[in-house]
Amino acid sequence: MSQPMTAEKIASYVVAEAVWAPSVYNTQPWRFALDGEQISLHIDPGRRLAVADPDGREMVISCGAALFNVRLALRSLGYVPEIRVWPEPDQPALVARVSWRPGAAADEFERRLFARVRTRRTHRGAFDPEPLPPGLLAALRTAAEREGTALRIVADDGRRAALAAAVQSAEHELRRDGERLRELTRWTPAPGRACRDGVPATSYPARAEHTEPYFPGRDFARGHGWGVPPLSPATSHRAAGVAGLLTTAADGPPDWVNAGQALQRILLTASVCGAAVALHSQPLELPMLREFIRTQLGDGAYPHLVLRIGLVIQASVSVRRDPGDVLFASGGDRAGAD
Ligand SMILES: Cc1cc2nc3c(=O)[nH]c(=O)nc-3n(C[C@H](O)[C@H](O)[C@H](O)COP(=O)(O)O)c2cc1C
Repeated sequence: MSQPMTAEKIASYVVAEAVWAPSVYNTQPWRFALDGEQISLHIDPGRRLAVADPDGREMVISCGAALFNVRLALRSLGYVPEIRVWPEPDQPALVARVSWRPGAAADEFERRLFARVRTRRTHRGAFDPEPLPPGLLAALRTAAEREGTALRIVADDGRRAALAAAVQSAEHELRRDGERLRELTRWTPAPGRACRDGVPATSYPARAEHTEPYFPGRDFARGHGWGVPPLSPATSHRAAGVAGLLTTAADGPPDWVNAGQALQRILLTASVCGAAVALHSQPLELPMLREFIRTQLGDGAYPHLVLRIGLVIQASVSVRRDPGDVLFASGGDRAGAD
């Protein structure tokens, strides 16, 4: 009979998957520690976007997405994760403690989600005009609900145009704000720089692809002309995709963790079904526009991400830090460090 895995081995395996979570500007604002037979997930406050994300909401959403990967990775080993979110009121950086117990082997769908953890990529640009596979939107709504959140599809033409206008207006404002641009510069390395975080030029298109309505992407290239050249000539019809909002009923840190877990469940479910997702958080970083979206398009629920879902061949490549750089023994030493 094979030996059970040690807690150290389990933690290394789990964290190597967790780091492939999406995070705002690919800041990867997390640290993990192995405490006995528990993995704790901490925010890394030095990686918060001080200008774009003063409350740390997007940072916590990013950690929530990593927590979902932790759960899936444990399931892939046949363990049942047991999660306590914000377990210590006097430790505001400790997002969750995760322990595990033996359980049934992962089911077919869990295995398919897990297989997408490293290959899923955020899409930035337009989609092919083909409709989504039947049942996909229902599956994504269910995915959101399972994590205590809601995915609201913004289908009505007028409301979709209003949502696109909010993204346009936010993007216009962000591009004129010197402080925000300096922060963006910190996380958008020039092509060829060997960075393991931030948004690399291999992960966004060199030219914005206009759609009707238009949801502009962030200006990661900042006028340098960086980015991936188009795969096909710009003559074919390109679509904005199905627009949606990920929302929660309340707006505290536990809701942000739920939003992150839901986001990752949605992104992986879409990927399993052959669809890609573009994310726009620009208007949600500006309080007036966030409030507009909440009251006019979100039925009063708190919006955390604008999503566009569609079909497209993706060619983007992203980066991550080494798992050994973010996994610590509980005393604070890097796990496995001398
Ligand atoms: C809270 C949050 C907000 C995000 N906002 C945007 C955004 O406004 N625009 C964008 O292109 N990507 C956005 N992203 C996606 C990240 O940039 C992306 O996850 C990161 O660069 C890593 O790339 P990957 O998802 O392809 O692995 C966001 C992700 C999170 C978790």
